[in-house]
Amino acid sequence: MSDPQKHETMLEVTNLKKSFSGFVATNDVSFTVEKDRTTAVIGPNGAGKSTLFNLITGHLLPDHGKVVLEGRDITGIAPHKICGMGMARSFQRTNIFPKLTVYDNIQAAFIAHGGRGLDMWGVANRQFRDKTESMIEQLALRDVARTIAGEMSHGAQKQVELGIALAGEPRILLLDEPTAGMSAQETHESIALLDRIAKARGLTLLFTEHDMEVVFSISHKIAVLHQGRIIATGTPDEVRNNEEVRRVYLGGDKH
Ligand SMILES: Nc1ncnc2c1ncn2[C@@H]1O[C@H](COP(=O)(O)OP(=O)(O)OP(=O)(O)O)[C@@H](O)[C@H]1O
Ligand SMILES: [Mg+2]
Repeated sequence: MSDPQKHETMLEVTNLKKSFSGFVATNDVSFTVEKDRTTAVIGPNGAGKSTLFNLITGHLLPDHGKVVLEGRDITGIAPHKICGMGMARSFQRTNIFPKLTVYDNIQAAFIAHGGRGLDMWGVANRQFRDKTESMIEQLALRDVARTIAGEMSHGAQKQVELGIALAGEPRILLLDEPTAGMSAQETHESIALLDRIAKARGLTLLFTEHDMEVVFSISHKIAVLHQGRIIATGTPDEVRNNEEVRRVYLGGDKH
């Protein structure tokens, strides 16, 4: 506690294992995510990144190992309950209501998190409206608030998905390839926005990403997965200079 550099542990994953009909997708994975830090999980296609996220968020049950969120064992707990404990996520494939407007997508998320005793026409409605407006403002979606979400660019849809995840007011947010399918410009803008929001809200981020420029620009810590195992964990510099990581993933001259 006396060391200002030392961050509290937000999430701890210990010896996680998951097989699919004999194929080991997650093999004895252990790592920690520190509070208020940005942590990336990287690795080639099929390394097990999405599976790991599914194990952490309760979408998959591990064969072995545990997941501890802020000191509480959450292994085997249902996703919506984990969500209620302060963990939100976005999926590799965009997960929004494509036929609703941007505004309605985000308001629906606030209502979903609003709990019981909902009075749609009274105080609650006003409260959700204010929260929705302020989220739309924060995500720079004001100009497209009345646009049908499914008709927007992929980058903008991802922004809406981020708003939906943030509506739960999480303390930790997991993002599975947040910039997949985005143009260079969209990638740049959305990462700058994400970084800003994380800092403003004191949000802990855990994300997977194939764009190494993004990974190395915003991460405090990087874990490298290869064939279901963690082969390195460390600061961006440590990972960049790790022999095995260079051999199996980063390649000789790219970084
Ligand atoms: N439900 C499942 N049933 C069977 N095999 C699965 C299942 N989910 C994942 N796998 C396998 O587990 C391995 C890891 O998959 P996963 O989707 O976690 O990789 P990833 O690192 O997220 O890859 P990508 O970078 O392509 O998103 C792959 O070989 C995949 O085919
Ligand atoms: Mg994946």
